[in-house]
Amino acid sequence: MHSKTFKYVALTAGLMVSPLALAAGDAPSLLVGTCISCHGTSASTGPATPSIGGIMENDDFVTSMQDYRDDKVPSTIMGRIARGYSDDDFKAMAEYYGSQKFERPTQTFDKKKAKKGKKIHNKYCEKKCHEDDGYNNKKGVLAGQWMPYLEYTLADFHDGLRKTGKERKKAGDGKMEKKMKKMLDKEGKEGLENLVHFYGSQTKSK
Ligand code: HEC
Repeated sequence: MHSKTFKYVALTAGLMVSPLALAAGDAPSLLVGTCISCHGTSASTGPATPSIGGIMENDDFVTSMQDYRDDKVPSTIMGRIARGYSDDDFKAMAEYYGSQKFERPTQTFDKKKAKKGKKIHNKYCEKKCHEDDGYNNKKGVLAGQWMPYLEYTLADFHDGLRKTGKERKKAGDGKMEKKMKKMLDKEGKEGLENLVHFYGSQTKSK
């Protein structure tokens, strides 16, 4: 099908399906059809893509999409994808994903690294931000997220490619950079690896 026609059909169909109908588990709207090919419904289809189903607050989801669209955060893929949609589309997507159930896959992790990672998490990440062992998802999905995704996202922070704080209106204070720098000065790159193993070790649903 011609891509323009497809988008029109997708949008119309997306808007016609009410969030309630989606929450009841009906066939997902075509609007999120593209998203599902990578993010799945409750767990993403591949470990380099974050799972987003049933875990982000709707507002955070919308802000995240706007940030990708407006180039406020670097991305491999999402910047391009987000450009194709309006804020209302983002809201509909947030409703759909908000009605899914997040699944934490069983991943292969190193126990020693996970243990060290927990300590690092408690020291640098837990307080006021990624609370409850990273189960609090307001500032990003950590507990039980795919390890390869966490690894490359954290590497972006390490390389200074990804910014939060000032560049993300929502956070507004650059706290993440500061904490990250402190952590890296003390723990080195290994610290990142340990954190990834800690988050990957978390499979309980809370
Ligand atoms: C081709 C695969 C692919 C498709 C299609 C895709 N995504 Fe993504 N998504 C990613 C990847 C990879 C990331 C991590 C950021 C990046 O590198 O682009 C991501 C990140 C996200 C995040 C941020 C998650 C977080 O924890 O911060 C949200 C929200 C999101 N995508 C929503 C969507 C929605 C809604 C759609 C459909 C319009 C969509 N994605 C389509 C691959 C995809």
